[in-house]
Amino acid sequence: MIKKDLEKWLNENKIEEKVEHPSITKFGDYAIRTGKAVENLTKNDIVEKTEFMAGFTNIWLNKSILIEETEKIGTEEWSKNLKENGIGKTMVIDYSAPNIAKPFGIGHLRSTNIGQAIYNIYQILGWKCIGDNHLGDWGTQFGKLIVAIKKWGEKAVEEMTIEDLENLYVKFHSEAEKDEKLDDEAREWFSKLENKDLEATEMWQKCIDISIKEFDKIYGLLGVRIDYALGESFYLDKMDAVVKLMEDKNIIRESEGAKIIEFKTMPPAMAIKSNGTTTYFLRDMATVKYRMETWNPDLIIYEIGADQELHCRQVFETSKMLGWTPQFYNVAHGMIRWKDGKFSTRKGQTIHLSEVIDKAMEEAKKIAPDNDEKKIKAVAIGAIKFNDLNQDPKKDIIFDWEKVMSMEGNSGPYLQYTYARCQSVLSKSQKNAGISGETKLELEEENLLREFYKFEEKIIEAAERFSPAVVAEYLINLARKYNEFYAKFRVIGEEAEEQRLFLTERTASILKLGLTLLGIETMEKM
Ligand code: ARG
Repeated sequence: MIKKDLEKWLNENKIEEKVEHPSITKFGDYAIRTGKAVENLTKNDIVEKTEFMAGFTNIWLNKSILIEETEKIGTEEWSKNLKENGIGKTMVIDYSAPNIAKPFGIGHLRSTNIGQAIYNIYQILGWKCIGDNHLGDWGTQFGKLIVAIKKWGEKAVEEMTIEDLENLYVKFHSEAEKDEKLDDEAREWFSKLENKDLEATEMWQKCIDISIKEFDKIYGLLGVRIDYALGESFYLDKMDAVVKLMEDKNIIRESEGAKIIEFKTMPPAMAIKSNGTTTYFLRDMATVKYRMETWNPDLIIYEIGADQELHCRQVFETSKMLGWTPQFYNVAHGMIRWKDGKFSTRKGQTIHLSEVIDKAMEEAKKIAPDNDEKKIKAVAIGAIKFNDLNQDPKKDIIFDWEKVMSMEGNSGPYLQYTYARCQSVLSKSQKNAGISGETKLELEEENLLREFYKFEEKIIEAAERFSPAVVAEYLINLARKYNEFYAKFRVIGEEAEEQRLFLTERTASILKLGLTLLGIETMEKM
């Protein structure tokens, strides 16, 4: 990789400053803060020329090296080198994790899209990746649900849809406001469930079956397959061992009948409630232990909404107190809002993903070609995913249909369209792509050539920052540079046809590789 070679050379020559890409192309490919001009920087074959300006040494890379690097992208050698980054390391990523008997919400969609992209990015970097869908299939809400089903259910549980279950759950909450006894009943049913009561267990299992069927439909549509879906209930028989460890380390204590863990800088976490039932927190602790014992990961990533940041910090800190050593990271994604204010939801219900997908399909019909169902789906899903991925996960994102589906803006369809444009150019030519260090390039061609080699750096940076947006933004930039070039020059039949084919082919390849990392499909025609 050029950057590594350059850094190595700088280090050998006692220059330890950080190497960065200047924000404007006219300041070169890289810049380093040097204070004064660095004289001998061109004394290697990477650097073509340098210029000292306002405290920075700007560096232009040698064109032949750029071309060489560009040609490698996507080859086996390239993949192998990329894998050197993570070889021998293992990561577990906890993502998606919808809740049983509740619809797959738009927050879970974000977690699914971002989580899968992070998984793909680590995988291409050579990490062994394990995806685990920590399904919300246990907890006091099942007590409430059972009460609601028994009291107000109008048909047999197995005939209910996930919406029926959700409506019953919502009804429980409005009724419980009027009648306190309902909460006691719910707690009792959950306690029965934890004690393996037959009736409670059967109803719980039926709710799971209904929900999983629904979730699988969504994963199918999104083209996502998560390695494991162990879920919270998987840890039921694994919690005692954790409590025992906590007791051995003297970090758990009794408080008003409950068992809690205290921290120096945050509120305590409850492991066991005063009525003896377990908690989400304790199940997460058992989960960490299981993951360590099963996969021995170097890194565990949680792709969970920012509203659970405290929960995650408590889990990480407790792990530390127990002497557990993996590195932890919570991506803590922000919320999604509609353009015109908050997400408007019916009666406090979560926004249904299926409604969003239906609407996306409707919009995609207007731009996808040939009325081809597969392509409409690829555009719709690509648009939704890209909207989740092209912004820093931590930030709240605005859901604006016009932008999500825009053919010109920073969108999935824009990238798919640019890819198809490249393919169309390539399909019309009889010639072979070709370029060399001596080829004379126009400004827009040169700008494009100077984008390609950055792809690898961006993949690494995306992993380091746990942010697929780094790749997404790079692809947008690349597509912009291509379209600036395309707007100005013809390719077919020109004297410069071969070099332009090279630029076109490389753009297409990188767009495809990059979009695949983001879980977005490309199509040859659009
Ligand atoms: N099911 C939870 C929710 O919907 C998310 C679970 C995240 N993962 C975890 N290990 N706690 O809020």
